[in-house]
Formats: sequence, structure tokens, C-alpha cells
Amino acid sequence: MLQGTVPENNTVPEAAAAEPPFSGQDLLTLPPFEKNNPFPLERALTERKTVRSFDPGRTLSLSEISRLLWAPSARALYPVDLLVALPQGVYRYESQPHRLVRVLTEDIRSRIPVQSGFKQAGLIVLYIIDREKVSGADLGWADLEIGCIGQNLFLEATALGLGSGIFAYINTKEVTKLLGLKDNRILRIAQAVGP
Ligand SMILES: Cc1cc2nc3c(=O)[nH]c(=O)nc-3n(C[C@H](O)[C@H](O)[C@H](O)COP(=O)(O)O)c2cc1C
Repeated sequence: MLQGTVPENNTVPEAAAAEPPFSGQDLLTLPPFEKNNPFPLERALTERKTVRSFDPGRTLSLSEISRLLWAPSARALYPVDLLVALPQGVYRYESQPHRLVRVLTEDIRSRIPVQSGFKQAGLIVLYIIDREKVSGADLGWADLEIGCIGQNLFLEATALGLGSGIFAYINTKEVTKLLGLKDNRILRIAQAVGP
């Protein structure tokens, strides 16, 4: 274990976690934030591990979601779309501007994973590959992209004092149907985040 300690003035995770719950609007403009969490990168790398059980009693705040989703993507040209399953429904993340657009009003978190532990997560990110942006053999590029996004999200979750786990064991057919995904959009893998 590295000896990295978080400076005493690190109030970012606590402040973000203390916010009241938000209601499920169709458009959620994510709050801007200072990239000022001094949590050391090497500590995040050391402490990140797959978490398979979560506290269903605490939902994530909009500030926490904002910080988590900022981490994976700074551009909008990727062949991978992020859908975010929350208690308030399923949202598509738009990195420019930094916001969530609701695509389903239902809470489908418990229907995504096969393993019961992941069902308790506050948020589940669904990685959707857009086949129109990557064709044939290039599909591997999208997978590489997901690997990078997933690790960034993992590190940000760790820095916020949250747990995370990437899982491939998902109810793909059911969720594809629930989301109304067309043939050219592939539900590839999912990532749970929560306290
Ligand atoms: C592509 C991929 C798919 C995974 N799928 C699952 C899964 O379906 N269920 C699960 O419990 N863990 C899954 N994992 C987590 C791995 O089991 C975990 O990363 C591995 O045991 C190493 O543990 P660590 O992440 O704590 O270092 C997956 C990891 C990756 C990278």
C-alpha cells in the first residue's frame, strides 16, 4: 500500500456526497466543478479494485455524477456512447455540453446485471458501440476505447471514495429490448458505481 495521504483540505468527496437527491427531469444539466480533488493518482491506482456489493441506501448526488462522467470523455466523436442507468431512469451522456438526456423513465438497474451485487449500485454505465462509427474489423478500436474510459471512471470513482466494478455478465437481450437499441448499436459491457 502506498503511503499517499489526502491533504486535510480535501472536502470534495464529502461535499459532493452531502447534496440532497435530485428529481428525474428529462434534461439534467450537470453542475460545473473545479478539478480540484487532490486525491493522489498513485493512491487511486493502488486502491482501485473491483467492487461487487454496494450500499443501496444512498443514491449518488448530481455533483458526484458530474465528476464521474467528466472523467471518461472530453470529446463527443467516440464510437462509444454512454448510457447511465439511475433511479430516475436511463440517460444518454452528452459530453458537449456536459449533460444527461433521459431516454427511459424506468429504473432498470436491477435488470442489467446477472450478478445480484451489481444490482445495488447507485449508477450503472452502459457502454454502447455505434457500428456506424466503426465498421467490421475496426470494432476492436471501440473495445480499446471502452477499456480506457472504464479505467478513467474507475480512478475517478476511487478518488471520490466510491466503489466500482466493470461487468460483462449482463442480461444483454433484455436490456437491448428495454432500451430499444437498433441492430447497429451494441450493448458491449457495463460498469457499476456506488457507495
Ligand atoms: C472486460 C471485463 C469484464 C469483466 N466482467 C466481469 C463480470 O461479468 N463479473 C464480475 O464479477 N467481474 C467482472 N470483471 C472484473 C474482473 O473479474 C476483475 O477486474 C478482476 O478480477 C481483477 O480484479 P480487480 O479489478 O479488483 O483488480 C470484468 C473485468 C473486465 C476487464
